[in-house]
Amino acid sequence: MDKVLIFDTTLRDGEQALSSSLSVKEKLVIAHTLAKLKIDIIEAGFPVSSPGDLESVRQIANNVEGPIIAGLARAVKADIDACAEALKDCPRPRIHTFIATSNVHVESKLRKGYDEVVNMAVDAVKYARNFVDDVEFSCEDAGRTDRDMLCRVVEEAIKAGAKTINIPDTVGYTVGYEFGDIIKDVFNRVPNIDQATISVHCHNDLGQASANSLMAVLNGARQIECTVNGLGERAGNCAMEEVVMAMNTRKDIFGVETNIITEEIVPASRLISKICNTPVQPNKAIVGATAFAHSSGIHQDGVLKSRNNYEIMTPESVGLSANQFHLTSRSGRHIIKHRLSLLGYEENSYDLDAFYVKFLALADKKGTVYDDDLEAMMEIDGEDSDRFKMTFLNTTSGTGSVPTATIKIIDANEEEKEIQEAATGDGPVDAACKAIDRVVGYSVKMVDYNLTGMTGGRNALGEVKIIAEHKERRYHGSGSSTDIVEASALAYLNVINKVARMEGIEKIKENRA
Ligand code: KIV
Ligand code: ZN
Repeated sequence: MDKVLIFDTTLRDGEQALSSSLSVKEKLVIAHTLAKLKIDIIEAGFPVSSPGDLESVRQIANNVEGPIIAGLARAVKADIDACAEALKDCPRPRIHTFIATSNVHVESKLRKGYDEVVNMAVDAVKYARNFVDDVEFSCEDAGRTDRDMLCRVVEEAIKAGAKTINIPDTVGYTVGYEFGDIIKDVFNRVPNIDQATISVHCHNDLGQASANSLMAVLNGARQIECTVNGLGERAGNCAMEEVVMAMNTRKDIFGVETNIITEEIVPASRLISKICNTPVQPNKAIVGATAFAHSSGIHQDGVLKSRNNYEIMTPESVGLSANQFHLTSRSGRHIIKHRLSLLGYEENSYDLDAFYVKFLALADKKGTVYDDDLEAMMEIDGEDSDRFKMTFLNTTSGTGSVPTATIKIIDANEEEKEIQEAATGDGPVDAACKAIDRVVGYSVKMVDYNLTGMTGGRNALGEVKIIAEHKERRYHGSGSSTDIVEASALAYLNVINKVARMEGIEKIKENRA
C-alpha cells in the first residue's frame, strides 16, 4: 500500500496562532510527543523569526530522534541561513522554503512580477540545496493561484532541486472537488512531477481542510501537512487526527497507509491542548471529549448489541478506553443493567425497575450520572459512612515561599486513628492533595477542576467540583467552604472516599468469584 507522509506543523503554523508563545522546553515536550506518534516530518519553527525560535528548532533538531526536522524559510537568503544554522547538527534536516504565487499575493503583498517570483523560488531552492539535500518548496496561496503559473513555478522548483512540492490552500478557500482538481492538474501538466513528492497544506476557514487534504490524496498527493487538534492560523490547519483516522478507517477508498501510531492520538491531543492552553471542542472529531460517547438510549442499546452499530472505529484505536457511555436521562434500562454488572451487581440482587426510577430522578437533576452515583444509589454505603474524614488543614503559601500543607485525617478502618501528614506542592491546593495522598496511600489523577462562587461578596462560599480518574474509572467530587483551599481538599477527599468505597466493591466482587 502507498504511504502518505504526515508533516506536522503544530510547532510552526500552530504555534504562531497561540495567544502566548511556547517555551523551548514546552516545544521539546511537544516534539517528543510527535516523535512518539511517529510523525514523519516535524516542522519545528521559523528560525529567522526570533533567536528563541532558532534555538528551539536547534534543540528539537539535536534532541528528537526519528522524524525529519524541518525549518521554515521565506525565499530569501537570510531565512535560509537561519534554517541552515538551526539544523546544522540535525541527522535528518529539511529546509522548507516558500513564496506566494497567487495573483492577489504577488501583486498586493509581494508587489513583484511573476517572472521575479519564479526566479526567487528557483534561487531559494538552489541556495537551500547548498546546506541540505532535503528541500521542500511551497507555493503560498496555491489554492488561488492561476493554474499555468502554478504549474510553471512547480516545474522550475523541481528543476532547481526541490524534493517535495507543497500546494497550500493558505486561506482555506477551495472546496473538495476543486482542490482535488488542482492536484490532478499539477500531476498532468508538470513534466518532471515524478521527481518530487506532492504535499498539501490546507487551512480550515470554510471547515474543509481535512476534506480537501483527503481529496488531494485521492488525486496523488503523498504528504499531508497538518497540526494536532487542527491548531493554526485563524480557523486552523487540517487536523492530523482527522485525516489519519479517515485514511485508516476508509482504506477501501483511499488505499493508503500512514506511519502514525493511532493509539497515541488522544494522549498527544490532550497533552498538546494543555501545553498550548487551547481546549478542544467537546464534539471535535476523534479527540473531543464526547467523540466516542454514546448518549441516547437507542444508541447505547445498539452498541451493547454490537459496537459496529454505532462505532465506525474503536475508541481503543485512538487511545481511549472502551467504556464511553454517558449515563443521562436518555439512557435506557439495558445500559444501566450493563454498568451495574461491571460494578459487580448481579441482576437478581436488585430490582431493576425500581432502580431505574431512582436513576432517572438523579439524571434529571445532575445531567450525567457516574459510576460512583450508581454505587451510592445501591445504598451499599451512604455519605455518612465515608472512610476518611478531615479534621485539620493548615496551608502556607505566598510569594517566595514553598506552598506547604499539613493535614489530619481520621481513618474509620483504623479504629478512628487520626493520621497527620504534610507535603509541599505546586500551590496550596496541590500541597493539600499530596498530603491527603500520603495519608490514604494512593492518589487519583485530577482530570477537571472547577471553582465557582456559590454566594456573593468577599466571604462567598466557594464550591469546588472535580473529576478524577483511578484505575480507568472516573469519579466526581465536590466540596464547599469559604476557604477555597479547604473546599478543594474536601472535594479531593470526597473522591478518595468514593474510590475507597469502589475498591471495597471490587473486593466483594473478587470474593464472590
Ligand atoms: O499556509 C501556508 O501557505 C503556509 C506556508 C508557509 C506553507 O503556512
Ligand atoms: Zn499555513
